[in-house]
Amino acid sequence: MQLIICEDSQEASLKASEIVIQQLQNNPKTVLGLATGSTPIGLYKNLIDAFKKGKISFKDVVSYNLDEYLGIDRNHKESYYQFMHTHLFNHIDIKEENAHLPSNNLATIEQDIKAYNDALSKTKIDIQILGIGGNGHIGFNEPGTLFENETFAVDLTEQTRLDNLRFFNHIDEVPKRAVTMGVKTILRSKKIILIATGKNKADAIQKMIKGPVTTALPASALQKHPDVVVILDKAAASLL
Ligand code: F6R
Repeated sequence: MQLIICEDSQEASLKASEIVIQQLQNNPKTVLGLATGSTPIGLYKNLIDAFKKGKISFKDVVSYNLDEYLGIDRNHKESYYQFMHTHLFNHIDIKEENAHLPSNNLATIEQDIKAYNDALSKTKIDIQILGIGGNGHIGFNEPGTLFENETFAVDLTEQTRLDNLRFFNHIDEVPKRAVTMGVKTILRSKKIILIATGKNKADAIQKMIKGPVTTALPASALQKHPDVVVILDKAAASLL
């Protein structure tokens, strides 16, 4: 793992965006794996900025998102579909048909998951962007999930629901299930950039880098990948 420790979250976003911008300049047909959450928002802002300055284009870029909630509509303001449109897709020239997110349609979820896995097995993600949960989850691969999983439907832990409560009015509104790329899918990416900022990530980061590879801390599976760049601010790196 390559470790980059930054002064603050702004610098962490800058470092991540430099890598993605260079990738897009080298290969305009890049396949990106995208994450939601607070962590990548700064990265997405920088990518929008680079697009507006004419440095990069997304017109031939294909993207696959890591995860999506089950049980809330795509029009819900907290769906990851809305998140991606608000924070990135609405501001760049990516084609709607090239920007893929897991389905949240309960009626067709099984065949939709199969279709997502089929599409992902026929392509290769060039760069997968990841955040990390306070409990070491990546995507919605919660502690205890098997590393062999491809995209699957998952029950969210109480911890993760509490972490995400800040985006909803009440805990009852926080979805209980989600669809996520599995660890196996994530590890198939050519390159992975994991960004973590803030003290509440320090323990998970320490275990991810220095601890054993264990399903108890899903992010530790990244130790098995040959090209992972971990970009941290000082607070997230404070226990290393
Ligand atoms: C989001 C995702 C999650 C987040 C993680 C950290 O697509 O897959 O694993 O990356 O929960 O979330 P933030 O960035 O909000 O701290």
